[in-house]
Amino acid sequence: MKKTLVIYKSKTGFTERYARWIAEDVEADVKPVTELDLAGLADYDIVVFGGPLFASRILDLGKVQSWMEKMPKKTWVVFATGATPSDADFVKSIEKINFPPEMPQPARFYYFLGGMDFEKMGWFNRLLIRLFGRLSQRKGKSEEAKKATPPSRFHSFDLSDRSYIERLVKYVRIKQ
Ligand SMILES: Cc1cc2nc3c(=O)[nH]c(=O)nc-3n(C[C@H](O)[C@H](O)[C@H](O)COP(=O)(O)O)c2cc1C
Repeated sequence: MKKTLVIYKSKTGFTERYARWIAEDVEADVKPVTELDLAGLADYDIVVFGGPLFASRILDLGKVQSWMEKMPKKTWVVFATGATPSDADFVKSIEKINFPPEMPQPARFYYFLGGMDFEKMGWFNRLLIRLFGRLSQRKGKSEEAKKATPPSRFHSFDLSDRSYIERLVKYVRIKQ
């Protein structure tokens, strides 16, 4: 069986939860990306990296892509978590932004719905979310459109679900 490592970046815990679920299912080691360097990856054949979306970008992906470039023989799998419900067009747009052709490409990319935790979020990110919310409200032309913005947008919510990892787990098991 090939040695597998799951690494993650997580600010409020959603990505870490997915990383731990995946590690459990594929019998992998699991570590935050901040505790790793290139040498720490040497022993592994398969590396799964997960990070949250911040303004459509996967946090810490740049660091992981530099490792991908230096260790192209490993199987690299990337997943992102976000607060946007997933559909094929959304996932494609996230892929396009984060994996332009000149950058190293993972073997597979997955997107999992996470949530929003205002209690664990730092004040600056809380402020950004409130500003984004206001801006998107202003975009709505009618009063009706403004009212349609769900109040839950400003309250914490958790839409993570273990079943979302099934396709990723299946792929890693085939590679193992
Ligand atoms: C400043 C900020 C920007 C965000 N931008 C996006 C985004 O562009 N798309 C999205 O789907 N979610 C976005 N989110 C939501 C996070 O990606 C989501 O809460 C994620 O699951 C958090 O993962 P974590 O708990 O592992 O940090 C944003 C959150 C914050 C605080």
